[in-house]
Amino acid sequence: MKLLRHFEKQHIKRAVESGLLAKLQKGAMPFRKLMSYYKCAMMEIETKFRVLNEEFSLRYAQNPIESIRTRLKSPESLIMKMTNLGLPVTVESIESNLHDVAGVRVICSFIQDIYSLAECLIGQDDVELIEQKDYIKNPKPSGYRSLHLIVRVPIFLENEKRLMKVEVQLRTIAMDFWASLEHKLRYKKNISPEILRELEGELEDCSNHISAIDFRMQEIKNRISELK
Ligand code: GTP
Ligand code: MG
Repeated sequence: MKLLRHFEKQHIKRAVESGLLAKLQKGAMPFRKLMSYYKCAMMEIETKFRVLNEEFSLRYAQNPIESIRTRLKSPESLIMKMTNLGLPVTVESIESNLHDVAGVRVICSFIQDIYSLAECLIGQDDVELIEQKDYIKNPKPSGYRSLHLIVRVPIFLENEKRLMKVEVQLRTIAMDFWASLEHKLRYKKNISPEILRELEGELEDCSNHISAIDFRMQEIKNRISELK
């Protein structure tokens, strides 16, 4: 683990030193311009979710969204991902090969909210679904659960319309709690392989417990709705 992190740091350092970052700024389209397009697309998707949250809260007197987080991939991790994939580190190549430069994470109250929101988003006529991965129905071996969507949305600029890809991750508060902790542990240094295996087993077990609770909470919510 420690070696890997050291290697990654060296990798980025070399990339930056060899002028890749500088080259990125000089492409046909400046790198900063591409990143600002991604930022706009991310803002579009975030607004779409905020609008849906508002509408749902009027209709059902309850907010399906707990919070929304957005992030743009940093130049360093863009360089690292492209280099690891063996792809040229250019603005054009980033745009055609990566789908997670812009990311929107939507934290929902209940599992059903995830699917309702996803369906509403995909149903909008300016949103094109490129890919969907359901890690709730099919969790990753690590225990990771979330619904992932890759969508394409238009952004309207001064003289043109551009279609940009955004990665959307929808998960419950419980799934997010697990994913943040697992992410922290994954990057912890100095863990022996045996302990790591043991911890991974523990984490998967926690994920199963958390998922069972998510389903129970959904059941409780359904019963309360029936009472109304
Ligand atoms: P990337 O190259 O990382 O984008 O992989 P991918 O294109 O196969 O996408 P995938 O759907 O597997 O997941 C990408 C994102 O989901 C990651 O950047 C994380 O944010 C999240 N993710 C996926 N697996 C895990 C996991 O096991 N643990 C945690 N904490 N997050 C995960
Ligand atoms: Mg990714």
